[in-house]
Amino acid sequence: MKIVFSKPSIPTSGALVVGVLANRRLTPSAKQIDHRTRGALIRAMKSSRFKGNKDQVLALVAPAGSRLDRVVAVGLGKAESLTEKNLVELGGVIYANLAMTGSGTAAVMTDEIKGCPVEAAEMAAALALGARLRSYRFDKYKTKLKAASKPSLKTLKVMCSGFNQAREAFNVSDKVADGVFLTRDLVTEPPNILYPETLAQQAKILAKLGIKVEVLGVSQMRRLGMGALLGVAQGSEREPKLVVMQWNGASKPAPKSGPGKPAGKRKSASPIAFIGKGVTFDTGGISLKPSNGMEEMKYDMGGSAVVIGLMKALAGRKAKVNAVGVVGLVENMPSGKAQRPSDIVTSMSGQTIEVLNTDAEGRLVLADALWYTKERFKPRFMIDLATLTGAIVIALGSEHAGLFSNDDELSGRITEAGKQIGEKVWRLPMGKAYDKMIQSQAADVQNISSGGRGAGSITAAQFLKRFVDDSPWAHIDIAGVAWGKQDSNVAPKGGTGFGVRLLDRLVANHYEGE
Ligand code: BES
Ligand code: MN
Ligand code: ZN
Repeated sequence: MKIVFSKPSIPTSGALVVGVLANRRLTPSAKQIDHRTRGALIRAMKSSRFKGNKDQVLALVAPAGSRLDRVVAVGLGKAESLTEKNLVELGGVIYANLAMTGSGTAAVMTDEIKGCPVEAAEMAAALALGARLRSYRFDKYKTKLKAASKPSLKTLKVMCSGFNQAREAFNVSDKVADGVFLTRDLVTEPPNILYPETLAQQAKILAKLGIKVEVLGVSQMRRLGMGALLGVAQGSEREPKLVVMQWNGASKPAPKSGPGKPAGKRKSASPIAFIGKGVTFDTGGISLKPSNGMEEMKYDMGGSAVVIGLMKALAGRKAKVNAVGVVGLVENMPSGKAQRPSDIVTSMSGQTIEVLNTDAEGRLVLADALWYTKERFKPRFMIDLATLTGAIVIALGSEHAGLFSNDDELSGRITEAGKQIGEKVWRLPMGKAYDKMIQSQAADVQNISSGGRGAGSITAAQFLKRFVDDSPWAHIDIAGVAWGKQDSNVAPKGGTGFGVRLLDRLVANHYEGE
């Protein structure tokens, strides 16, 4: 779908979208079209339950007095409480209501609204972003799609007085949407097509945006002593990979090795780092999962997909930040070569791990990826993303991702960014008592809790914490939010891309411009 910006003028064909505020208060454009159609809009509202509440939609097909296919009124709710997030969601709602109607073009008219904290150009850009996000499709394997099951909507015209400004703002967020789409593509791709090597190839493509991409293979990881990651991979025919992506967009270069001087005096800017779990398929290994629902484990590389999509977003919009993305890519399979429950592996950190359950594999992959990132880059902070535990789905469903951190400031900033853009996280506690639950009899640590099924997401986070030392760190468990079972306002069901916009916003809020 093409998205264009222009100055307001009522179109003569296609669909027209206008806003209506709570209590059926018409915006200026709504008034205009109501006049043009000799009061059809007001009559239609009065004959329906449409009140102008947030996300309500009322469509008039082929209204007399115009040659438009349809006029669509969308509810804005109360002017004072309209936020950027609401408008992005509304853009998604507009797209969803228009995509399949038969109209090829739609014009959305936005107005400066009294009492609304968001100005018209921002409003236009936010609506456009929402529409773009909702327009995502993954139908490359559908060979028999009829035209009637494909979207008719080809062009979305967003109209507002400051349309140049709106276009500029959208051009930035459009790059972020590119990152979100890449994440969704990767998460949706089936595991016979997307495995460590091919996922690494996808990351390599980012080099054309100016990202430095390195791919480490088994022998390099062996030399580095990554016994935890390699242990997970050893049951699979597919070779594991570790991908390192660097985007150096800050005006100060990234340091060669670690920060020496205090921040203000440095000629270089230490990077921030994002680490992703990339289990391209999780059978559970020898601790085999039941077959019911196992197909879901194709998205167990969701964390890595977010990191790759985020790097694409940051580079695409030329973010003024030095950022590192590291993803550990493995396939967790049972076989004659697979690791066994009770195996003891030695991680890159030197800590030994007793693998009591081969299905708690994500933390093993992350243990080495986190340690590697910390040692090599000495980042300002590390944030890892992982579809790590079923327990987080039980605790938070798909409403919030789980957040765990050793740093209140970082954790607060992530939470805040999430509220702003509508990818919510909820922080859970950590502490010594939970750490005790992963004390091993035979090794330095064990990969599952001895406390039965209690606090499963927290003990997983405690495990990760042992591999970050004192670095500021946050872990986001996205097992419940990476895949949507239903459409949301900004994403059709399937891969959500949750995390890309969240972390892009975190960076924009706090870590650019050094
Ligand atoms: N990949 C799963 C977690 C998961 C569950 C992701 C549901 C997405 C949806 C993870 O590797 C796993 O198997 N975790 C186990 C841990 C247990 C063995 C301690 C779990 O949650 O059951
Ligand atoms: Mn598992
Ligand atoms: Zn897993």
